[in-house]
Amino acid sequence: MAQLAVSVAGLSLRNPLLSASGTFGHGLEMRHVVAPSLVGALVSKTVTPRPRPGNAMPRIQETEAGLLNSIGLENRGMQSYLDTTLPEVAGADTVIITNIGGETEQEFAEIAAAFDGRPEIDAFELNLSCPNVDGGALPYSTDPKTAERVVASVRAVTRKPLFAKLSPNVTRIEDIAVACERGGADGLTAVNTVLGMSIDWRTGRPGLGTIVGGYSGTAIKPIALRCAWQCARAVSLPVLGCGGVRCAEDVLEFLAVGCSAVQVGTANFGEPGLLARMPAELDRLLDDAGFASVEDLIGSVRGGSRAEVPG
Ligand SMILES: Cc1cc2nc3c(=O)[nH]c(=O)nc-3n(C[C@H](O)[C@H](O)[C@H](O)COP(=O)(O)O)c2cc1C
Repeated sequence: MAQLAVSVAGLSLRNPLLSASGTFGHGLEMRHVVAPSLVGALVSKTVTPRPRPGNAMPRIQETEAGLLNSIGLENRGMQSYLDTTLPEVAGADTVIITNIGGETEQEFAEIAAAFDGRPEIDAFELNLSCPNVDGGALPYSTDPKTAERVVASVRAVTRKPLFAKLSPNVTRIEDIAVACERGGADGLTAVNTVLGMSIDWRTGRPGLGTIVGGYSGTAIKPIALRCAWQCARAVSLPVLGCGGVRCAEDVLEFLAVGCSAVQVGTANFGEPGLLARMPAELDRLLDDAGFASVEDLIGSVRGGSRAEVPG
């Protein structure tokens, strides 16, 4: 039996498998399909200070190799999360990471402060892909200074572990990673969705109501892997890999490039019970390859000269 437990930013996870925000409910909605005791941690959908209805329909479109979405952070707001979701997750036999978002630095700090005293929450994940209304509506994740400030504003109001969730839609993700480390993050999540769109050329109608949305699933794995590797090299913080994971082999690839744990998102829609069967598969694969523990594999990426100009 390989040792699957990992310690990440002070959290003890029984295995390196996490749900990805927005793909596995807000609280314990999925408990009858995947027992919480089987996963390292559950990550909530993004909670914002006030309720959000989300974007205009259609908001989901399946493509050949992934999923386009423009949900628009639909959620019932922080009061509902405090009153309804948190009492439900109390006593869940796993680590709970609450993903939070806001339209201003103050909103991020407001929601973190409101949640800080709640023992059901073990850690925060900051959705830096939220548009910064004070900054011309560009996402926080696209500018190092803005990213650093929003992380610092949350750091100032909580001592719970903070994971800054980064966007792949930037030129140099390592600069954003370093800025988040400076702002006081305890870890990073790499990455959120890749910008994409689709269109019906006969009607001229885009697949999403917002035209442009977030692309996720199998096709983005190489992008996510590259981003996670660049982040892991740039900072001394633990990195949670995320993007395109659909099997235990994929999880092990993210660990090998330096991630401490891995999130599973879009693949849950195709197979809701996926996370329940992954721990045994991880164990078997590690055992077969002669690794005594997950920790032995983390960051084992080797060699190769770095191409300055790919292609
Ligand atoms: C339908 C859907 C909703 C999502 N909602 C959120 C969200 O509320 N907050 C967030 O930080 N990421 C959200 N994400 C992004 C995922 O957490 C994840 O970062 C991304 O989908 C890449 O991983 P995957 O390829 O395994 O899905 C969402 C993704 C999808 C497909």
